[in-house]
Amino acid sequence: MRKELFQLRNLIQSDVKEYINFLLDPDVNVWLEDEVQNIKDFSNIENYLMYGWYRQAIEHEKKFIGVSGLDLVNKKNKVARFFIVIGKKDLWGKGIGSGVIKSIVNYGFKELQLRKINSDFLTPNEAVKIIHEKAGFQHEGFLRKDSYRNNIWIDREIVSIFADELNP
Ligand SMILES: CC(C)(COP(=O)(O)OP(=O)(O)OC[C@H]1O[C@@H](n2cnc3c(N)ncnc32)[C@H](O)[C@@H]1OP(=O)(O)O)[C@@H](O)C(=O)NCCC(=O)NCCS
Repeated sequence: MRKELFQLRNLIQSDVKEYINFLLDPDVNVWLEDEVQNIKDFSNIENYLMYGWYRQAIEHEKKFIGVSGLDLVNKKNKVARFFIVIGKKDLWGKGIGSGVIKSIVNYGFKELQLRKINSDFLTPNEAVKIIHEKAGFQHEGFLRKDSYRNNIWIDREIVSIFADELNP
């Protein structure tokens, strides 16, 4: 029987500490939000994780390896923003991100009745760009020189998807 690459489940309190440890790794956090570059207040991270709009823990072989989910941006317009963090670096490049994004987006359209899902990422983050393109996200534009990393200003790419654009 073929082993599943990943499973999704609801978050539990013990995920918070592991997630914070992932975020403290510069290889993991470099292309994430400015707020997690130098975390001072861990309670913000806990709130984001445990009380966000839609969150799923990502597991590989029954071990917690990251988090993905959606934040409601505009309730009336049914628009949410996607995010994903896989903290176990040795599992990058194996297709987990590509599978998770499709699962979360599919749930967003089918179960959460979203009309549109937005996402954004810093442009040097090739892997995240690829998983969005493979899922069917379309390019909307750039926020130029949006974030400062490794002594240079970096553009942020904005992408989005509608239900009929999601690849199987
Ligand atoms: C971004 C992330 C979710 C991708 O997950 P993943 O499981 O590694 O993704 P996948 O293995 O499904 O796909 C990654 C693709 O990018 C490619 N890739 C990875 N690193 C790359 C690089 N530096 N340059 C070019 N391509 C790269 C892989 O070959 C793969 O392509 P393929 O599907 O054509 O084989 C994961 O790396 C991660 O969580 N990183 C840290 C947090 C982060 O950056 N989150 C996103 C913030 S917006």
